[in-house]
Amino acid sequence: MNTRIDSMEAYHQAYEKSVRHPEKFWADIANEFTWKTRWNNVLNWDFKSFDVKWFVGATLNITENCLDRHLEKNGDTPAIIWEPNDPNGKGCTLTYRELYHAVCKASNMLKNAGVKKGDRVCIYMPMVPEAAVAMLACARIGAIHSIVFAGFSAQSLADRINDATCKMIITADGVYRGAKALNLKEIVDNALESTTSVETVIVFQNTNAEINMQDGRDVYWHNAIKDCANECAAEPMDAEDMLFILYTSGSTGKPKGVVHTTAGYMVWAAYTFANVFQYNAGDIYWCTADIGWVTGHSYIVYGPLLNGATTLMFEGIPTYPDAGRFWNVIDKHQVNIFYTAPTAIRSLMAQDDEFVTPYSLASLKTLGSVGEPINEEAWNWYHEKIGKRNCGIVDTWWQTETGGVMISPLANITPTKPTYATLPLPGVQPVLVDAEGKIIEGNNVEGNLCIKYPWPGMLRTTYGDHERCRTTYFSTYENLYFTGDGCKRDHDGYYRIIGRVDDVINVSGHRLGTAEVENAINEHIHVIESAVIGYPHEIKGQGIYAYVICDHLPEDEHATRREILEVVSKVIGPIAKPDKIQFVTGLPKTRSGKIMRRILRKVAENDLSNLGDTSTLLDPAVVDAIIEGAKKI
Ligand code: PRX
Repeated sequence: MNTRIDSMEAYHQAYEKSVRHPEKFWADIANEFTWKTRWNNVLNWDFKSFDVKWFVGATLNITENCLDRHLEKNGDTPAIIWEPNDPNGKGCTLTYRELYHAVCKASNMLKNAGVKKGDRVCIYMPMVPEAAVAMLACARIGAIHSIVFAGFSAQSLADRINDATCKMIITADGVYRGAKALNLKEIVDNALESTTSVETVIVFQNTNAEINMQDGRDVYWHNAIKDCANECAAEPMDAEDMLFILYTSGSTGKPKGVVHTTAGYMVWAAYTFANVFQYNAGDIYWCTADIGWVTGHSYIVYGPLLNGATTLMFEGIPTYPDAGRFWNVIDKHQVNIFYTAPTAIRSLMAQDDEFVTPYSLASLKTLGSVGEPINEEAWNWYHEKIGKRNCGIVDTWWQTETGGVMISPLANITPTKPTYATLPLPGVQPVLVDAEGKIIEGNNVEGNLCIKYPWPGMLRTTYGDHERCRTTYFSTYENLYFTGDGCKRDHDGYYRIIGRVDDVINVSGHRLGTAEVENAINEHIHVIESAVIGYPHEIKGQGIYAYVICDHLPEDEHATRREILEVVSKVIGPIAKPDKIQFVTGLPKTRSGKIMRRILRKVAENDLSNLGDTSTLLDPAVVDAIIEGAKKI
């Protein structure tokens, strides 16, 4: 992008301009894209009712900006390099031209199946290039994609399909996870038993697993696509037409369908990718996320492709065939920019250095971190062992709702400090507030992180329930977007994210609502009530600790624990399985019936020195019993 920042001085200038003249600032950036019609107005906004519109009146198609725009000069540039799960397997590379034709063919395949502009299409797929092709095909014809991480259970998948009334699901026969292969289609079949909106299931053949294909509903990808033309005109989309829905957990039980729209998201994904990673033509960029999460949306697919970059997609896991796989892939593909999560860093750090030392890693120049706070030890290991003290680290803070990175260093430009996400990107106006919502000025302070001005990539609504969106994000503090995170601002004005201040826990970078996990546990027939909290976990960042009341204390605690884990896996997915389960006979509740989670948290952390005021408890003896029981966990 021409509007790329290349020095700290340029950063300060850009930041200043973005605050003083935001509309002019974003119009200049938006001018770099292909539009079918220009906007009449750059921004309309109101945080009270929560109504935000960017590039009002413009029409465009994001895939023309991801693909068509690059064909003339960069048609032969690799767009996607695919590294399969099996290190000896056959990977592939798709150039921009090949990807363009693949997307056009898939767009025609969707059209043939009756998918129209505005229809919702669920994508439940492994990390294969066809997953990216499916996303872009939806966007090309104006269908709204809703990607569900292929580790979620049938029930979670069904809930998401129903909430968005998806007309189609695109899936695969199976998914590889290291040495294991899972049957995805079976999960889809189970999910479809409790949905009514899906008319067509397109199945990509990945593992050649034996699967059930239902006549009239299920069709293999290779059959459906084979006669489709490799050109497909891009549907003109309004700037504010929905591009995708992505479900994420909040503090209440039901995941929310975060909605992103076309133009603002496009501009934000492109601008943040170019600036945070300082991508240069020819660089090989690798983000290890799954496309089922927002990081995969913005920084495997949209951000890189909008910049004509080469993005590596990896099907496997970091520990297969051994804990050197990431480093092996970096050397094999000469990766220059590597973006992963603290959990992965910590788990690889816990392994012997012998998994790192065989690899040169000399191609690397930038390392990224995302999804959870990175502790100092992990930051230093990443810097020394992987970056050889030669690579800038970008600790990028953002959320599903923000669409792209909000607070982060610019690679090899912003001076970094371990554990600090450093400074806001241009266009981002963070504020810290106290419990009453009063803005805390100055440095060396701590508070709840809010954003006081709209940015193009922000969510626009939660699918089907705008009021929920407004109350979740815009009603805690007047006229501010509330992130749910606690944050410090140090003497240099640098930001450090501390973690969630609501009932959301972050397990290995996966966001889970405590209520969601409690609801799942409560589905076990003997469970009467449960309370779930996060506690510090060496590898996962946070682990899940569940206090569970059963109708009678289980005779075989091991067996009941196992059953509860199975129930949680079935209801949500394996990522939500509690690390610790303590059976209790009561929970610490106030007289009004509210669970005092603060006490449960202290017990889980084994920090009994200061339990705080327990006088408001209905039955203080409950706490002693819990403390006693915790010793055995
Ligand atoms: O608590 C913050 C944490 O992850 C939350 C957002 O989760 P999700 O919507 O799943 O998106 C994850 C990928 C962008 C935030 O509210 N988080 C994300 N990045 C960081 C972080 N916490 C600390 N440092 C980060 N760099």
